[in-house]
Amino acid sequence: MPINISYLLESRTACEREDAADPLRSWQGAFYLPQGLIYLDGNSLGPMPKKALEQLEQAIRKEWAEDLITSWNKAGWWELPETLGELIAPVVGAASGQVIVSDSTSLNLFKTVHAALTLRPERTVMISEADSFPTDLYILEGVTSTHQNIQRRLLGKDGNSLEELIDNQVAVVVFSHVNYRTGEILHIEELVQKTHDAGALFVLDTCHSAGVLPVELDQWGVDFAVGCTYKYLNGGPGSPAFIYVAKRHQNEAENPLSGWWGHARPFEFEENFHAAEGIRRFQTGTQPVLSLRGLQAGLEIAQEVDLQQVRKKSQRLTQLFIELIESGCRNYGVTLQSPTDHDKRGSQVTLHFENGFAVIQALIARKIIADFREPGSMRFGFAPLYLRYTDVWDAAEALADVLKTEEWREERFRQKHEVT
Ligand SMILES: Cc1ncc(COP(=O)(O)O)c(C=O)c1O
Repeated sequence: MPINISYLLESRTACEREDAADPLRSWQGAFYLPQGLIYLDGNSLGPMPKKALEQLEQAIRKEWAEDLITSWNKAGWWELPETLGELIAPVVGAASGQVIVSDSTSLNLFKTVHAALTLRPERTVMISEADSFPTDLYILEGVTSTHQNIQRRLLGKDGNSLEELIDNQVAVVVFSHVNYRTGEILHIEELVQKTHDAGALFVLDTCHSAGVLPVELDQWGVDFAVGCTYKYLNGGPGSPAFIYVAKRHQNEAENPLSGWWGHARPFEFEENFHAAEGIRRFQTGTQPVLSLRGLQAGLEIAQEVDLQQVRKKSQRLTQLFIELIESGCRNYGVTLQSPTDHDKRGSQVTLHFENGFAVIQALIARKIIADFREPGSMRFGFAPLYLRYTDVWDAAEALADVLKTEEWREERFRQKHEVT
């Protein structure tokens, strides 16, 4: 079904009216966002939920400062990875007992790929996408150095479809639900089916979908999944990631990073490792409790929102941005890298422009925050819980102005920092 946002292209006032009627507008007050700032980078780091500050204060002043080590029991610190995992489970379509919060996405990817390989010991190939987020590629490269006989096949390099790449040598397929660069959504249920038909296992990276798109891990038959919590789940900088292991694999799958938190009886301090039952075995060592406590508020919000409503608004925001750019920036050499079909587009719009880095810096100077990925990709994230239609209007207008006036050519916008 086409999205009708043409009436919003007429004027900013039309966008104001849309904001007033937005069923998600009450969530804007749940986040701390500096006055006058338009934040289009929730696909990289979500803003701080106001409740996170309260919960962190409680964790620091009471649980750490006053109650000290007794908080492992009294404040539920020990169980936090499971408690928070249970909050994430419904957001990614997982029944209870299959998700745990722990470590980073990179580490969890290593654990899941290794677990999949041990479940298919006679097979020697891993498939991934050439255009995966680099950490996914690097982790698989790392797996090849620890498993001498395992090879990688890359979609987009060694073949152009999963069908071309898959055969009975493939143990595991690792794909991202939404491409980090273009925002393209893959049809996961179909890919899982093809993977299973070939007898292989499927690992899904949900970093760019968890919290902003409906995800149905159980229903799609995904075997393992990972995802970060600092993007659309608003968990805070470097907040711990999550790992999903389908119930049917939990007692056979092995965690290669077999630390004491994954032991069946951690406080017996036994000499040998005996994996815990269920999802707990996918933990490794002591977790960053303050970061876990900072994450809770974002997950409580994710629990309450209607993801279908979030998805609908996300499609409307991205469509509005694309159509405004098409009319306002047509003459300046900017091209769309994201899918034009809104059903294939995640919650971001990527525009290609050779000097995109400088353009993004010029927008940041105008308090419009987006980001840049080499080569030439300007990424604009549209998180529906706190963005307004008027924000989209203002951002598109500012972008057109930066391009028209060539403000981006100023020397100050060329200076590169460590993080782009
Ligand atoms: C698709 C994808 N996977 C993984 C990561 C990052 O993993 P980590 O949190 O381990 O740095 C990102 C970060 O942006 C990502 O976009």
